[in-house]
Amino acid sequence: MIGFLGAGRVGAQAALEVASAGIDDVTLVDILPGLAEGEAMDISQKIAETGVDVEVNGSTDFSALRGSDVVVITAGLARKPGMTRMDLLEKNAGIVAAVAKEVAKHAPMAVALTVTNPMDVMNYVVFRKTLFPKGRVVGMGGILDLSRFKSTISAMLDVSHSSVTSLVIGEHGENMLPLPRHTSIGGVPLTKLMDETQIAQANETTRRVAIDVISKKGATVDAPANGVVRMVKAIAWDRKEVIPASAFLEGEYGVEGICIGVPLVLGAKGVERILPLDLDDKEMAQFLRGAKTIREGIASISSLL
Ligand SMILES: NC(=O)c1ccc[n+]([C@@H]2O[C@H](COP(=O)([O-])OP(=O)(O)OC[C@H]3O[C@@H](n4cnc5c(N)ncnc54)[C@H](O)[C@@H]3O)[C@@H](O)[C@H]2O)c1
Repeated sequence: MIGFLGAGRVGAQAALEVASAGIDDVTLVDILPGLAEGEAMDISQKIAETGVDVEVNGSTDFSALRGSDVVVITAGLARKPGMTRMDLLEKNAGIVAAVAKEVAKHAPMAVALTVTNPMDVMNYVVFRKTLFPKGRVVGMGGILDLSRFKSTISAMLDVSHSSVTSLVIGEHGENMLPLPRHTSIGGVPLTKLMDETQIAQANETTRRVAIDVISKKGATVDAPANGVVRMVKAIAWDRKEVIPASAFLEGEYGVEGICIGVPLVLGAKGVERILPLDLDDKEMAQFLRGAKTIREGIASISSLL
């Protein structure tokens, strides 16, 4: 069973996609009375017509998460136009600290998949509050940044999305690190097809695009939900998929004691391996800037930990 803690925009959309794809039974939990139940009813009625036989339930009671193999955490506040992810820090830390304890209590064997922003800091809060082994705590951010980088590059070069293979790591925030040096267009290095100015423009667009969406439609929903579904599938089907995602580091990439985005192997056990990568000086500096921001975020909520 896949649990969704938070049945707001991203949680409900991801739950809809997980159920529609028949990945597993779904349970939504939200503190807002009626919301999770209503979403569950709506999704159930959809899949009844399309002929998918999974069970979908909703509740305000955290114990409904019992038996979850994965719990997707989207509980919390979302950004409004003009806000950075870090602006949500204090409020969401309190919410996430509380719900993480519920995950540990009711779904002690689950993989916790953190989505709430600022995601890397919240992923650390989940790690500390669930007391789960580090492999069973992972955060969604890199796959979303990657989908935005791919979308930008394919538009700039007028090539199909599927021709672009790339990687975005680091903080899921202002210091995200798109990696043009590790990007290829059907095997042709990106650096052969774009000059430095164009690459800088692609990086900047990728960084900015989420706030553009928020200012136009109020929230980012479809692309984040897709990232969640991709990760849920990797875990539920033990796909051992290589995905950039937030994990607790103990020296990898020169970083220790925080969660940040790195390429990792995602399977039934959660984070099964973190893959190494050679970063040049400029890339490493950006990665470490992100790590510093996350560390400062964690320090500012230390009283909650
Ligand atoms: N990691 C990413 O890439 C990414 C992408 C998009 C959004 N987000 C983040 O995900 C979070 C959710 O976004 P959204 O647009 O779905 O927001 P939303 O406001 O639509 O939904 C959040 C839900 O959480 C619920 N909630 C609040 N406190 C709760 C608690 N204690 N227990 C259970 N439920 C609780 C609310 O009732 C609400 O339904 C935000 O923090 C947003 O910034 C992250």
